[in-house]
Amino acid sequence: VRLAGYTTLRLGGPARCFVEATTDDELIDAVGRADREGEPVLVLGGGSNLVVADEGFAGTAVHVATRGVTTGPGESRDAGRGVTTGPGGSRAAGPAASRDGRVLVRARAGEEWDPFVARCVEEGLSGVECLSGIPGLLGATPIQNVGAYGQDVSETIVEVRAYDRERGEVVVLDRDACRFGYRSSAFKGAHRHVVLEVTFALEHDDLSAPIRYAELARTLGVDPGERVPLRDAREAVLGLRRGKGMVLDPADPDTRSAGSFFTNPILDPDQVTDLEKRVADRLGTGAVFPRYPEPDGRTKTSAAWLIDKAGFTKGYGRGPVRISTKHALALTNADGGRTEDLLALAREVRDGVRAAFGVTLVNEPVFVGVSL
Ligand code: EPU
Repeated sequence: VRLAGYTTLRLGGPARCFVEATTDDELIDAVGRADREGEPVLVLGGGSNLVVADEGFAGTAVHVATRGVTTGPGESRDAGRGVTTGPGGSRAAGPAASRDGRVLVRARAGEEWDPFVARCVEEGLSGVECLSGIPGLLGATPIQNVGAYGQDVSETIVEVRAYDRERGEVVVLDRDACRFGYRSSAFKGAHRHVVLEVTFALEHDDLSAPIRYAELARTLGVDPGERVPLRDAREAVLGLRRGKGMVLDPADPDTRSAGSFFTNPILDPDQVTDLEKRVADRLGTGAVFPRYPEPDGRTKTSAAWLIDKAGFTKGYGRGPVRISTKHALALTNADGGRTEDLLALAREVRDGVRAAFGVTLVNEPVFVGVSL
């Protein structure tokens, strides 16, 4: 099976072996068996954050296709205990409402994320509405702490049930054990856990969480911090994402991407000073770069802005592999590209930004069999 068909970039060679897992047990069996045999495993979700080598994957790809969502009142599990070990794949898992009045919604990893968000919005459950229009599977959201438009899943995830490949058993990780950060978590890069099920605690409310993202607030015509009807938040986010080519559309080659190809750099104070100097040298003394203060005193800046200002025009590239014409941070592949070409473009962008601004961009998607 060519993995290109399972990635939004439509890139990647074949997997040696391919398993479709429609139940938790099938998922655990497939991964557990491969692990016991020393066979490399690629857990495949929606493929929307994945760059796979042209040579493919010399191991077993396990496609997560488990489904099921439960919502409702009931008894909450005790949170705050770190990792809890569960008996096999089974757990007395009824729908539940948490103690602080939030509604617990538990969903299997193979659920598609955006229909899940749509359903929450329809049911008046607030907390994930700004994460509308993100491609991929729900089970992938804790791995890189999916975030957009001022929300990220770490704010609403209360626990993750996962298969622990080291221990060979099912475990439950609470929010602390997930160690969420910007586009990161205990799961990212470690490959130790296979996410089976995620529990979100959502507010039963027709209003969104306070709108934090300036561009979204402007679009909605409200001040940052205000709340809006859930549906308005969802529609506004979908509109913004479409404008940036960040909603999959087979008719639009700009949407054939893995979303943001690089993370937004987080700079120490001395790096900020250095960047100020380089920006002034290159763009004139009036120029300022985007700054988003981090709680720890560091400063996040915009990778897209650095790419633009380093001189890469939107649409830049060779043949089918190009920077999106709608957003500098998305690398796209129209028909017939190769992973190697995409990586060559990514290296050119990274090196150009480093030469211009002294900042080294780091890839955001998961790389399989390739590196920058
Ligand atoms: N900008 C440019 N050129 C561009 C696009 C943006 O200079 O072509 C500058 C502008 O100054 C703009 C700023 O970058 O104000 C921020 O742009 P945008 O709002 O599009 O957000 P982003 O920082 O590029 C991040 C996430 C996205 C998420 C959006 C919205 C990362 C790596 N990316 O992008 O997530 O949708 O914010 O919250 O943090 C993804 O992770 O795959 C992803 C799409």
